[in-house]
Amino acid sequence: MKWSSCLHLGRALPIWRTSPEWSAPTSETLWHYRRMVAEWTLPVSEMNVWLRAQPSLTGIAPPLDLAGLPDEPVPLFVGWLGQAAAEGVPEPHAATLATIGEDDVPDARTLILKDVGQRGWAFAGPRSSRKGAQLAARPSAALNFWWPALMRAVRVRGLVREASVEESAADLAARSVAARDGIGPGEWVLWRIIPTRVEFWQGSADRDHTRIVYERANSGWTRTVTTKERG
Ligand SMILES: Cc1cc2nc3c(=O)[nH]c(=O)nc-3n(C[C@H](O)[C@H](O)[C@H](O)COP(=O)(O)O)c2cc1C
Repeated sequence: MKWSSCLHLGRALPIWRTSPEWSAPTSETLWHYRRMVAEWTLPVSEMNVWLRAQPSLTGIAPPLDLAGLPDEPVPLFVGWLGQAAAEGVPEPHAATLATIGEDDVPDARTLILKDVGQRGWAFAGPRSSRKGAQLAARPSAALNFWWPALMRAVRVRGLVREASVEESAADLAARSVAARDGIGPGEWVLWRIIPTRVEFWQGSADRDHTRIVYERANSGWTRTVTTKERG
């Protein structure tokens, strides 16, 4: 398929939808379009054009009560996570974890949030993994969530602490038999990020974004709210 048809198709569908003869596409038609998309070969020289044409911030931001914000980040995070789940965001507990490699270069991967509370944001994985080695050498990390349907993102960063042997074993025991297969005692680790900074970002279609930043202070948290932030 030619590149021009790729851009054309992206625009053709909405026009088609508003025409008087429009009727809902059959699942066969949708499957056909998906297959066409999958088979596109995008010329590298035109990637920037295609990328610029892709919509972003297409969700609907829920009302945000800036006057009623909690004094600490965990309750706000739990509320946002719950709203993301309620809005049907797929896998709202999936996040990107960044660690620091031994070459001082950040390394990031997707994983699942295992717990959140006063002790921090918990995730788990094998001790022998890259992240395991990186965390053993440099116990700090950043964890990012993005919930497109709500135009919301959360960034957590801080030091990382390994949970107790019992907690790690309990997390492993809660996994399916298949997921436990081949993982020996002591190999599965539950870690917690003890946050020093948590940023809540809510986008807006008119680009007036809102950013709420909690930073750890001596006794509790400071909170900064920025509205009408352009980005
Ligand atoms: C949706 C999703 C969830 C994942 N959950 C985990 C997880 O909870 N723990 C984990 O170690 N890897 C998980 N992975 C795999 C990681 O992305 C990664 O490939 C793996 O942890 C190895 O990363 P590392 O080599 O940097 O340690 C998940 C991947 C995806 C796409």
